[in-house]
Amino acid sequence: MNSGRDDAGRGTSADSSSARPGVAVVGAGAVGTALGVAISRAGWPVVAVISRDATRRDRFVALVPGARAFGRIASMPGEVGLVIVAVPDDAIADVAAEIPLQLGRAAVHTSGALGAEVLADFASRGGAVGAFHPLVSFTLDVERSVAGIVGATIAIEGDDRLIELLADLAESLGARPIRLPPGTKSAYHAAAVLASGGLVALLDAIAVAAATLGLDERDTVAVYGRLVEQTLANARTAGIAASLTGPMTRGDVGTIAAHMAVLEARAPDVVELYAAAARRQLRIAEERGALSPDQAVRVRDVLAKGA
Ligand SMILES: NC(=O)c1ccc[n+]([C@@H]2O[C@H](COP(=O)([O-])OP(=O)(O)OC[C@H]3O[C@@H](n4cnc5c(N)ncnc54)[C@H](OP(=O)(O)O)[C@@H]3O)[C@@H](O)[C@H]2O)c1
Repeated sequence: MNSGRDDAGRGTSADSSSARPGVAVVGAGAVGTALGVAISRAGWPVVAVISRDATRRDRFVALVPGARAFGRIASMPGEVGLVIVAVPDDAIADVAAEIPLQLGRAAVHTSGALGAEVLADFASRGGAVGAFHPLVSFTLDVERSVAGIVGATIAIEGDDRLIELLADLAESLGARPIRLPPGTKSAYHAAAVLASGGLVALLDAIAVAAATLGLDERDTVAVYGRLVEQTLANARTAGIAASLTGPMTRGDVGTIAAHMAVLEARAPDVVELYAAAARRQLRIAEERGALSPDQAVRVRDVLAKGA
């Protein structure tokens, strides 16, 4: 990890060289509530929640001892040093414009898609800004979401004077901080969407293909999920390229043609994804030296005819 720790900003209340700042969470949704609970349990003072909804406010203060609830951002108490903005991406900039600036107060948001610059209004008034994105799937099941933070990666970015504090916060939660270089947030998020949503799309396509042999969704996950886990374990130990097995590594043209034919006949909406994934596998196999150029051309032809 590039922690980016340095001495810039030392002496502000948002600096880890001084006491841990009082934390306020804006937005008592899935992320805000789980982070508030986790941060409090990690021993940081979570002093306030700002939520427009009375039920969510009550739930938050019941879960986070010592937190006070507010309906408006302007009412944020003076002891807040770090504001965590956990609202939908489209609302972050407007929320940032409402955060009252106090000496040493910093603000971060939790979006995976947006950079720290979306907090520009607060920054333009002299506040330190950053982003703190746990690579976790948060739901309204608070305990499950809190448990998901432990061992996860948290991407941090922003002002140098804030990075050390954010890294400390992530480590206190039992997570692994990684510092994103400026301008890389979209690529980071695209990879995350492939890892989570992309895998779901793949599982969905697997289920459609498996339905043709009579497997229901539960059986599909049991049967093919094991293979997914084994492949992931292989990638962890041996690397991604080395974990590729199957017909693409052998240039098995007849088998691949049979796959394309059966999918076109019985699961046509899976063909495009199969072919796209196959072309990617083919490239890996070629780079590994597993295929002759001639074999690769023949496989590509079969995939192109089917797709
Ligand atoms: N869910 C995930 O898996 C996940 C993972 C990592 C990061 N994130 C990011 O975390 C942020 C929050 O996501 P979430 O899943 O927690 O969303 P969420 O469950 O919909 O909660 C967002 C909260 O923001 C408040 N809010 C909604 N609209 C608002 C508006 N127009 N102005 C001000 N506040 C508003 C609401 O809180 P109140 O009613 O209490 O005011 C709402 O409960 C997003 O940036 C998201 O990209 C999400």
